[in-house]
Amino acid sequence: MDTNKPDSNQTSLLFVCLGNICRSPLAEGIFLHLVKEAGLTDRFEIDSAGTGAWHVGESPDARAAMVASRHGVELGSRARQITQEDLHRFDYVIAMDRENLRNIERLAEPNGSGAKIHLLREYDDGSEGDEVPDPYYGGASGFETVYEMVHRSCQNLLDRLKAA
Ligand code: 4NP
Repeated sequence: MDTNKPDSNQTSLLFVCLGNICRSPLAEGIFLHLVKEAGLTDRFEIDSAGTGAWHVGESPDARAAMVASRHGVELGSRARQITQEDLHRFDYVIAMDRENLRNIERLAEPNGSGAKIHLLREYDDGSEGDEVPDPYYGGASGFETVYEMVHRSCQNLLDRLKAA
């Protein structure tokens, strides 16, 4: 995505986690997949970023790519760190956990934010307020659990945006 504000006819979403190699690339890939299935590619601009810079330039974690691929979802992102500009370019900035949310809000403090900032699982019916747990130091089953909760949340978020 370029540095200009996205097309005003589009809704733009930035998914954010810590490293931008596990959870937010999954959310980006899943949301994009759902948008394509719904024939709405032109209406959305989707990206992801990390609050940390350790993995900048890297492809998604192999375990995240594997679980996505098992579900027919391709992950095409390269890790980058969120910037203050992102908080003005995107309509929605969607955090995976509360620590991400706090760091995004801290980044927004000097100039405010045009973006609506939310936790992804606000859209996971029955689990509002919960977090997408960091799967990085766990096993493969953690990635499946993360995939399922991210998929549910993204589907509900897309349904709400379509209805808006
Ligand atoms: P993510 O997972 O935030 O879902 O991309 C992590 C990736 C890397 C690290 C932590 C979480 N790390 O500490 O390097």
